[in-house]
Parts: sequence; structure tokens; C-alpha cells
Amino acid sequence: MSAAGCSALWLAFVLLLALALALALALSPPLAKAGGFSCSPGARPVVFNFGDSNSDTGGIAAAKGRHIALPEGRAFFHHPTGRFCDGRLIIDFLCESLNISYLSPYLKVLGSNYSNGVNFAIGGSKTLPRDVLFALHVQVKEFLFFKDRSLELINQGQETPIDAEGFQNALYTIDIGQNDINALLSNLPYDQVVAKFPPILAEIKYAVQILYDNGSRNFWIHGTGALGCLPQKLSIPRKNYSDLDQNGCLKTYNRAAVAFNAALGSLCDQLNVELKNATVVYTDLFAIKYDLVASHAKYGFDRPLMTCCGYGGPPYNYDLRRSCQSPNATVCTDGSKFVSWDGVHLTEAANAVAAAAILSSAYSRPKIKFDQFCKA
Ligand SMILES: *[C@@H]1O[C@H](CO)[C@@H](O)[C@H](O)[C@H]1NC(C)=O
Ligand SMILES: *[C@@H]1O[C@H](CO)[C@@H](O)[C@H](O)[C@H]1NC(C)=O
Ligand SMILES: *[C@@H]1O[C@H](CO)[C@@H](O)[C@H](O)[C@H]1NC(C)=O
Ligand SMILES: *[C@@H]1O[C@H](CO)[C@@H](O)[C@H](O)[C@H]1NC(C)=O
Ligand SMILES: *[C@@H]1O[C@H](CO)[C@@H](O)[C@H](O)[C@H]1NC(C)=O
Ligand SMILES: *[C@@H]1O[C@H](CO)[C@@H](O)[C@H](O)[C@H]1NC(C)=O
Repeated sequence: MSAAGCSALWLAFVLLLALALALALALSPPLAKAGGFSCSPGARPVVFNFGDSNSDTGGIAAAKGRHIALPEGRAFFHHPTGRFCDGRLIIDFLCESLNISYLSPYLKVLGSNYSNGVNFAIGGSKTLPRDVLFALHVQVKEFLFFKDRSLELINQGQETPIDAEGFQNALYTIDIGQNDINALLSNLPYDQVVAKFPPILAEIKYAVQILYDNGSRNFWIHGTGALGCLPQKLSIPRKNYSDLDQNGCLKTYNRAAVAFNAALGSLCDQLNVELKNATVVYTDLFAIKYDLVASHAKYGFDRPLMTCCGYGGPPYNYDLRRSCQSPNATVCTDGSKFVSWDGVHLTEAANAVAAAAILSSAYSRPKIKFDQFCKA
């Protein structure tokens, strides 16, 4: 099939998905809502985060006893924290922008402080299947447990890290879907991958609906990243070289990410209309993460498609059997010159650029500032 035929087909799929969502919800086309996040005077910001390793601040290490060693964490924390990164993640920079401490993982029993919120994100998580550890739905159920237990203690006159008002006014952030899409892409041709998006999106919708039913009103939802620019994807055996774009990324993988985000963005628009008094902000992480590669020189990155921590040298320095946490991996001297930390996750330097882009609101709709919620 010609490239033009392919992209026309892709466009048709995106349109069909958006249409299907709109019809399913029987709603008129979305409009950006005025208003936005708010909080009573003096209240402090609280964030509850749900997701995968992109925003896992130590959850998988705590939950599965997974040993995560140096060089993870070397650039900022100077020791491993359970993050798959040399330093801070996007969610850490977002917390810094609110002037609150980094989110403690829900299952981390020592040294956690939940008064600014809780991080339910766990590396490897997907939306489906729904009830396996630690699918999005399980993370939401953990949240409900945490909330119910807090309210129970408050009723008994005890102090809890977060009070009833804190739950209500909190920001609920969701960054998930990358592992679902990845799993599909490694098993199915593109058309069939895109056809499997609706149940994934339905899970995200369901999660927001449950949180909303339990009083949550402020939502911030991230799209997926530029999968086709990940060294892990670029290193697959029998790669289709004619699928590489002008920046050296795989077009088919990126097309899948863009199609997913288009449908997720439409879902968020619909939820914004449907959920009374709620604000649902969608942020296009694909555009942000693709720009890290396309405009890498502007941000001081020399090697946009090569890992800092990996094996094999140029062009990608990625080998599945010798990935960053394996004994044979090598690590670069200056991670700030790299976009990719380990072939899948970004470096702290790239996360800093991505977080700044998120905070600019340029990639969000409605264009609400991240710190507009719960301004003290
Ligand atoms: C951040 O918090 C610190 C200490 O709590 C305070 O001194 C500072 O003014 C705050 N900054 C902003 C921008 O709110
Ligand atoms: C937890 O964090 C809050 C807010 O940053 C702070 O006021 C409190 O002292 C901390 N609690 C502990 C036990 O460190
Ligand atoms: C929370 O959501 C669940 C699932 O939708 C629902 O069964 C429950 O009643 C809700 N709880 C509150 C307090 O709204
Ligand atoms: C390789 O990629 C090109 C461009 O995306 C596409 O047209 C072609 O069908 C692909 N070939 C195979 C064998 O997948
Ligand atoms: C929406 O907000 C208004 C005003 O605060 C309140 O009266 C109403 O109950 C809220 N509705 C829902 C569904 O939250
Ligand atoms: C790792 O390095 C050791 C020692 O050089 C070697 O014996 C082993 O085969 C290597 N493993 C892999 C997966 O490359």
C-alpha cells in the first residue's frame, strides 16, 4: 500500500474512533470549559497519581521487592529511589511546580509522607486485563481503600494525612496506556492494534467515572509518548527501514501513539462535558516527547535516539538482554546530553523539558495551568 493510502486509512481510523466515542456518549461536539481548578483559601495542593513506570516514584520496588540499583537515580537523588531514571520524573517536576514534596508510593511503608497525596503508579501497569496487579482499576481500588480508611479514621476523631476536603479538592493525574499499546504492537499489525484501543480507553473512562462518583473533580490526563522514537523499538530485529521518518523514528509506532492520543483527547473532551462540576485536562505527551527528538539540539541533547544506559554502542545503544539494570550495561558520562535513559524511559534532563512543556499549557486542553488547582 502507498504511504498516502496508509495515512488516509489511518485518518479514517482516528475519525471512526472519535465518532464511535461521541456516539457512545450521545453528546454534542466538545467545547473547552471555562472555570477550572479551584480550592478553598489556605488549602494545600494534594495530588493522587495513577499510572505506569513513567510516573512510578518507587512503587514497583516497594510492591514487588524489585531491587533497583545504581546507576538509577545517580543524577539527582544520588542513590536509587525505585524510579526508572537517572533522576526526577515528570511527576516530580510537576510536584515541584506546586511547591509540594514528591509523591510517596502507596505501598512504600517506610519514609512515606502522604500529606501531599499518594502515588499509585506501578511500573509495567496496563489498563487491561482489569483485575491483575497493578492494572489501572486495581490502582483506583487501592485509592478507594485509602480514602475509605481515611474517612473512617476521621470519623473516629483521628488525624489522617489527607482530610475530606483534601480528597475533594485534589488533582487526580493519570498517565497510562503505553504498556497496553506496546503489548499490542508487538503482536499485531497496525490496523488491528488501533481496533483494540476502545476497550483501553473505556478503562480510563471507567477509572475517571469511579473517582468522580467518589467525589473527585479535578483530572489531568496524559496521552502516550512517541513510542516509535524509543531505542527499544528502534532496536527490534528485522526492522522495516522504510518505516523510519526524517528524524529516524518508526512511523507505524508513532502513528499508533497519535491515534491513541486522538481518541483519548476526544474522551477527555466528552468527560469534560458529561461530568458536572469537573475539569478534565488532556495533555498531548506525544507532541512533547516527539519534539524532544525532533528539536533535540535546541534542548542540548546530542543523542536523541541512543540510550545513556544500555549496551551495544551507536546508533541506539540498546540490547534487550543487556538493558540498563543488567550487569553488562554501560552508562554514559553525561546523561543531560541524552533523551533516553534506558531505551524506554527518559533521562531526568528530558523529563525536565517535558515537564516545562506540560506546565506551559501549550499542549493541554482546556488550557488550564497545572497550578491553577488549589492555589493557596
Ligand atoms: C514554597 O514553600 C516554601 C516553604 O513552604 C515557601 O517559603 C515558598 O514561599 C513557597 N513558594 C511558592 C512559590 O509558593
Ligand atoms: C509530611 O509533609 C508535610 C507537608 O509537606 C509536613 O508538614 C509534615 O511535617 C511531614 N510529616 C512528616 C512526618 O515528615
Ligand atoms: C465510589 O465508587 C464506587 C464505584 O463506582 C461506588 O460503588 C461507591 O458507592 C462510591 N463511593 C462513594 C462514597 O461515592
Ligand atoms: C514498511 O514501512 C512502510 C512505510 O511505513 C510501509 O509502507 C510498508 O508497508 C512496510 N513494510 C512492511 C513489510 O511492513
Ligand atoms: C455542582 O456545584 C454546585 C455548586 O457548588 C452544587 O450545588 C452541585 O451539587 C454540584 N453538582 C455536582 C454533581 O457535583
Ligand atoms: C556479561 O559479561 C560476562 C563477563 O564478561 C559474560 O560472561 C556474560 O556472557 C555477559 N552476558 C551477557 C548477557 O552479555
